[in-house]
Amino acid sequence: MVRMKGILLAGGRGTRLLPATLAVSKQLLPVNDKPLIYFPLSVLMLAGIRDILLITTPEDLPQIRRLLGDGSRLGLRLDYAEQAEPNGIAEALVIGADHIGGDPVALILGDNVFHGYSFQERLRQECDAVDGCVLFGYPVRDPHRYGIAETDAGGRLLSIEEKPRTPRANRAIVGLYLYDPDVVDIVKNITPSARGELEITDVNRAYLERGRARVVDLGRGFAWLDAGTPESLLQASQYVQLLEQRQGVRIACLEEIALRMGYIDAEACHRLGVELEKSTYGQYVISVAEQFMNR
Ligand code: DAU
Repeated sequence: MVRMKGILLAGGRGTRLLPATLAVSKQLLPVNDKPLIYFPLSVLMLAGIRDILLITTPEDLPQIRRLLGDGSRLGLRLDYAEQAEPNGIAEALVIGADHIGGDPVALILGDNVFHGYSFQERLRQECDAVDGCVLFGYPVRDPHRYGIAETDAGGRLLSIEEKPRTPRANRAIVGLYLYDPDVVDIVKNITPSARGELEITDVNRAYLERGRARVVDLGRGFAWLDAGTPESLLQASQYVQLLEQRQGVRIACLEEIALRMGYIDAEACHRLGVELEKSTYGQYVISVAEQFMNR
């Protein structure tokens, strides 16, 4: 198991999805057959991270806790903290400072969906050896919407800009960031941006200035989706639905991942499936558990 903490940031107001987010957190909206938050949580689980802090708004926290509880049913330890206002992604590292303690940390955004061949393997390799900060790059058509990075041939970060008007590259930095324990001190010295937020790009730039920032390219054969608008939420659903139907396996099925990672045994997985058995998701969990029992 990796000695790494996880932070999942699931705050914000979801304003681009109004009125769907008037009464429900964006991260609880469905992507095909499961809540959006399952996708980033599954990434942390696949990386071998089991000690996770979920940060969300005071209004959304009770519902997210109702969904995921203390995590013990999935063999995880989940803690919760509030972010009173959306004061920036990097504020998660301030709120989570005690949780991080002296360990490396993976910070993931609650609306990011990752899917691709050998992602788990690559992620685990990176998590095992975080020195400085490790970012993940992905080619995009609309670079002005993202944090944009330039690197040298070896992946060393040369420049990083948040939503540049005239982008120098089309490599977006996705919402998954790996840091060594120094991040707790680094974020203390970041000042809020013109829009009053603690910007994650400023944290990453501080690592760049120390020559300790690296970018791993996810490549064009990979799927990275964010689900912040009605269009992108629907596209994420369509993508997941297409693959799940074609292949007969589920993406981000937390019970299955917990079982395959050895966090729970097949009997426990089966019980979780039975609780959901009226849904095809629940039936899938049961069938995965039964396959394990019959091995
Ligand atoms: O998705 C990747 C991009 O995420 C990166 O390329 C950018 O560098 C990074 O700044 C961020 O850009 P966004 O425009 O997507 O950031 P946004 O403000 O929309 O926040 C992303 C998610 O984080 C969103 O689901 C809400 C949540 N959030 C955001 C802020 C600012 C919080 O929970 N709290 C916050 O304070």
